[in-house]
Amino acid sequence: MIEEFIKKLPKAELHLHIEGSLEPELLFKLADRNQVDLPFSSVEEVREAYEFSDLQSFLDIYYAGAGVLLETEDFFDLTWAYLERVNDENVKHVEIFFDPQTHTDRGVPMRKVITGIHKALEQAKQQFGMTSYLILCFLRHLSEEAAMETLQQALLFREWIEGVGLDSSEDGFPPKIFERVFAKASEEGLRKVAHAGEEGPAEYIWQALDLLGVSRIDHGVKCTEDEKLMERLLKEKVPLTVCPLSNTKLRVFEKMEDHNLKEMLNAGLCVTINSDDPAYFGAYINDNFLVTQRALNLSLKDVTEIAKNSFRASFLPQDSIDYHLSCIEEYVATQNE
Ligand code: ADE
Ligand code: ZN
Repeated sequence: MIEEFIKKLPKAELHLHIEGSLEPELLFKLADRNQVDLPFSSVEEVREAYEFSDLQSFLDIYYAGAGVLLETEDFFDLTWAYLERVNDENVKHVEIFFDPQTHTDRGVPMRKVITGIHKALEQAKQQFGMTSYLILCFLRHLSEEAAMETLQQALLFREWIEGVGLDSSEDGFPPKIFERVFAKASEEGLRKVAHAGEEGPAEYIWQALDLLGVSRIDHGVKCTEDEKLMERLLKEKVPLTVCPLSNTKLRVFEKMEDHNLKEMLNAGLCVTINSDDPAYFGAYINDNFLVTQRALNLSLKDVTEIAKNSFRASFLPQDSIDYHLSCIEEYVATQNE
């Protein structure tokens, strides 16, 4: 019953790396199309390799997988496959991350990456009425100069980009390294988010807020280790894009029952549920809702609040947010009849 409820609940996804939605079947198809050698002989073998011990062990495989993406059409196919899938899960709005440096460092032009993704987003708007924003992420294991250069290149496509983010290996790569890059993004009127407090300390969340000026924290689960930070997040209503199955797959929490999502929700934080890299963690947004609901015994009210938060935390204009919130209210009312 709750499964059906979650399935039909209107929701937004705010933490999704498009490269992390590359399913093994498409990986093989693109490898074949582009004549790229893969170190795997079957889809099953690929799935078996998706056993991770931490964030870095995942990123190594994730960056290797992205090697099959070369042409505009590849980025279109990748994005379209994700959008079709989440349209079936009643996702009404998406804010998608992409990692241009993963591609430009291999000689793929920024234009091909952005054009392919953008075309798919436009098609989803036409075909499904699904709205979307694109968020460019800087790879934090690379230099500040490389991030600044990436931002400059991407500004040629300014009207297709809503914001910037920060991802990749967290420990040892504090947000403060990218202060000037985020300041430049701000001057350009871009929104700002950052992965912080996924594996790294609560201190990185403070830095993302104070030095980068982000309006949303991606993951942020380490915030419960710092009472003053919890107060700050609460007072400023800073949303957290939590990815529960990512966290257990990357051993941030040993098992879902240990996850602190309910603790954050009970503290009044604006928590959302997202899939992060669904092809690698074996679950799209609805499964993330369902597994979390079961393990933490979330009520229907909790689940509804989390879906509402996904729109409140989005970068949509207020009238669109209000519209989606009223759709949720309407949906919940029909369930109680
Ligand atoms: N890139 C893709 N998924 C990521 C994650 N969970 N953390 C940091 N960088 C990522
Ligand atoms: Zn992420």
